[in-house]
Amino acid sequence: MSDVSYRKARVEDFPEIFGLLRNSVDSLLREHGFFDSSPFASPKQPAIPQTFPWFEMGLKEDSDGFWVATVEGKIAGITLSWVRASLWYLAHLFVSPKYQGLDIGRNLMEKAMRHHKEAPITNRALVTFAYNPVSISLYARHGMYPREPMYYMECPSGQVKAGPANTKLKSERVTDFEENKTILSRIDQRTLGYPREKNHEFLFSLPTVRCHLYSTGSEPVGYAYVWQNGRIGPLATTSPTIFQDVLRSAFKLAAAEGASNVALLATGSNDKLVEVALEQKMRILDNWLLMSAKPFPNFSNYVIYPTGAML
Ligand SMILES: CC(C)(COP(=O)(O)OP(=O)(O)OC[C@H]1O[C@@H](n2cnc3c(N)ncnc32)[C@H](O)[C@@H]1OP(=O)(O)O)[C@@H](O)C(=O)NCCC(=O)NCCS
Repeated sequence: MSDVSYRKARVEDFPEIFGLLRNSVDSLLREHGFFDSSPFASPKQPAIPQTFPWFEMGLKEDSDGFWVATVEGKIAGITLSWVRASLWYLAHLFVSPKYQGLDIGRNLMEKAMRHHKEAPITNRALVTFAYNPVSISLYARHGMYPREPMYYMECPSGQVKAGPANTKLKSERVTDFEENKTILSRIDQRTLGYPREKNHEFLFSLPTVRCHLYSTGSEPVGYAYVWQNGRIGPLATTSPTIFQDVLRSAFKLAAAEGASNVALLATGSNDKLVEVALEQKMRILDNWLLMSAKPFPNFSNYVIYPTGAML
């Protein structure tokens, strides 16, 4: 398509970008028969927000990965990638249903792929809809391959059962990012292979999520973010032996938030994670796919942030 222009995103684009994301997701869910069951269909999502902290952070930290495509002055597609050290992550790539199949997605992808900071990129990753052959093939052609089936799962908060308690594991809610950033980055380095300080700083700035730090003795061994809406993630542990204990503790904390459901994005091959999810009688409501250029070192000690926008 010849009359498409590409430019960096701007603050005034945020409401239009948000609307495009919702329309594009709704259209995909309808096309594949998931509209009624998926919690990501717009009728089940919160109202359009007044502020867009996630996009604001994208513009501040990763403007080289934040692009829009316009046709006759209207936004027809958007992409947002973030870079932390040598890790590149595609948070969003969406084209308005009306303009799909016209190369806009590929052009936006190519702009985002050029996004890097000081360090050369050593891994690239994203989470996409497991049932969209168009996005899956587009990413595979750019060197990212299917690694993990991901299941968005939920259970009623009232049914969350207390699991066996690990008396050696201590948890505390932490609120000071500066005091805890080194510990969080060290845990990320061991689970994902990359520090993600800016992501933690962003999460600490939100009023809707709490960070809990886990330790045995005086050694920090993991963290779990628990959301007011009952979601769990990201969660990471330095060792596989305490992963289930930290996850079970996060279930209790999430159930206590007062939302009707507890939810997470379960990595299909993580038997320890799936075992706890099934013990809590969680049900699968949507299917995603993690794609990456290379596998992550200890992904089985990790629970991804539940919507795919942030690893
Ligand atoms: C995925 C998406 C961003 C792609 O953007 P787009 O502008 O429609 O895609 P393009 O026209 O640039 O390219 C689509 C490519 O997929 C190919 N394709 C289409 N159907 C396909 C199929 N069933 N299997 C394999 N490839 C397919 C096309 O041939 C084209 O490749 P080509 O350029 O080599 O011919 C867009 O369709 C979209 O927003 N979809 C809904 C939301 C979504 O899934 N976003 C990704 C979330 S992470």
